[in-house]
Amino acid sequence: MRIKNILPPFSLGLSPMEGVTTPCFRQICKRYGADVLFTEFISSEALVRDVESSHKKMNFKEEERPLVVQIFGNSEESLCNAAHIAEEIGCDWVDINWGCPVRKVAGKGCGSGILNDIDKMEYLTKKVVESVSVPVSVKTRLGYSDDNKPIVEIAERMQDVGVELISIHGRTRSQMYKGEADWSLIGEVKNNQRMRIPVFGNGDITSAEKMLEYKNRYGVDGILIGRAAMGNPFIFKQCKDILEGKNDSKFSVKERICVCKEHLEGLKQWRGDRYAILEMRKFYSGYFRGLDNFKPYRIRLVTTNDYQEIEEILSLVGKEFNYEF
Ligand SMILES: Cc1cc2nc3c(=O)[nH]c(=O)nc-3n(C[C@H](O)[C@H](O)[C@H](O)COP(=O)(O)O)c2cc1C
Repeated sequence: MRIKNILPPFSLGLSPMEGVTTPCFRQICKRYGADVLFTEFISSEALVRDVESSHKKMNFKEEERPLVVQIFGNSEESLCNAAHIAEEIGCDWVDINWGCPVRKVAGKGCGSGILNDIDKMEYLTKKVVESVSVPVSVKTRLGYSDDNKPIVEIAERMQDVGVELISIHGRTRSQMYKGEADWSLIGEVKNNQRMRIPVFGNGDITSAEKMLEYKNRYGVDGILIGRAAMGNPFIFKQCKDILEGKNDSKFSVKERICVCKEHLEGLKQWRGDRYAILEMRKFYSGYFRGLDNFKPYRIRLVTTNDYQEIEEILSLVGKEFNYEF
């Protein structure tokens, strides 16, 4: 049970997100209180084929630990080899993505596509566990379709083959992102007397208050926050504060701008101007949520292709909205 020893009794994690949980954003989330960070999912086939952009996704700094590399795939050879590559770069553990619902992934039997074949899921997971000396976790969903949600059985079988932590997104594959995440089955997994490994809950945690409510109601060992952290790494500090009985965290426009600029610069250093300009577009509304009359600036930020101009617009925002909210 090595993962259990690395983690605090209750963990807040930055959920793995493609195009979001890049090294610089993970580092920012860590600073604001995330206890555990996941890379974006990385194709095991691409890692094995030595695709540079896939290897880059594993770049990390010591301060990010515990750092988890998430891989996806559906062949024994590529999953085991990819897990081995992740182990060699020194990650704290490897996570297998058995939850991605998008067609190009699940349609090939990767991600949540495996939920149609739990025997294969068990077999491949066991092989990955056996092929590395670092711990292995899995992130998955309740089941494949709404009339079949075998997550309680899946969790037991994952534990039995040596998985040391399971993260559960409270939706099925068919649901994609529709409807509300159903945490009652996550609670059932956690309360199953047979379960000894940590159980993380995930899905629709949008505020520190909701995090606290769900932690108390379902008794999970950790909660992963995804979309609500996009452009809002501050949510981890708010969560930490509420867990300590404080509830007064405020983040000035100045702080938001500084972090946003750091994020932009981090993406630029990592993958160049063009990547930074395009990828940052999905974060601005998060960084400046609640700011009246931000829209004209947002439109400029998401339409310009000029890095310098983005910096200028952010400075203008700072001048115009010099107040706390
Ligand atoms: C843009 C985006 C990319 C995602 N990429 C991944 C991924 O690479 N691996 C993964 O396990 N889940 C991925 N997810 C799912 C999230 O980790 C999380 O399970 C889901 O968004 C539900 O949590 P939330 O309601 O807190 O966002 C992604 C979600 C989004 C919105």
